[in-house]
Amino acid sequence: MFLMNLFNSSYGTCMKLNKSNTKLIDWQPLITQARKASLNAYAPYSKFHVGAAAIDSDNNIYSGCNVENASYGLTVCAERNCLSFAVNQSSKTITALLVFTQQESLTPPCGACRQVIAEFLSQDASIASANHLDHLKVWTVAELLPDAFTPQLLT
Ligand code: THU
Repeated sequence: MFLMNLFNSSYGTCMKLNKSNTKLIDWQPLITQARKASLNAYAPYSKFHVGAAAIDSDNNIYSGCNVENASYGLTVCAERNCLSFAVNQSSKTITALLVFTQQESLTPPCGACRQVIAEFLSQDASIASANHLDHLKVWTVAELLPDAFTPQLLT
């Protein structure tokens, strides 16, 4: 787990070295796109506006927002809409995903989204949460959902 303030971090703005020390993630473009997506959130019931953005191995960025429903259980979170959109665009190699909310307490993906994230991102991929205060927290997929049920288990 990795928590920092974007402006006060010695890592510089939005940079995170992942566990294998091979890849530096620039979170800023994902923050920008996720923040933008959160403005489209359809959240008349919870008023909790969420945006998510994911990047793939070709550096394409996909975003999504939460879409609620009068039948509450049919609500779909921003993360799942974001990943569905990426799949719709033929992207299958998502390498990182970020959630954005205007909440002081950074929003982590819910349980259902963690399972869907584990479907499309590797266990050591990075998942981040950011807010309007420029706070950022980063986990690996494995930290969010240890011993995940993944597609490999069906082979
Ligand atoms: N929500 C998300 O979109 N992502 C999360 O990570 C947490 C929850 C949405 C679902 C619902 O529309 C609202 O936030 C309140 O739960």
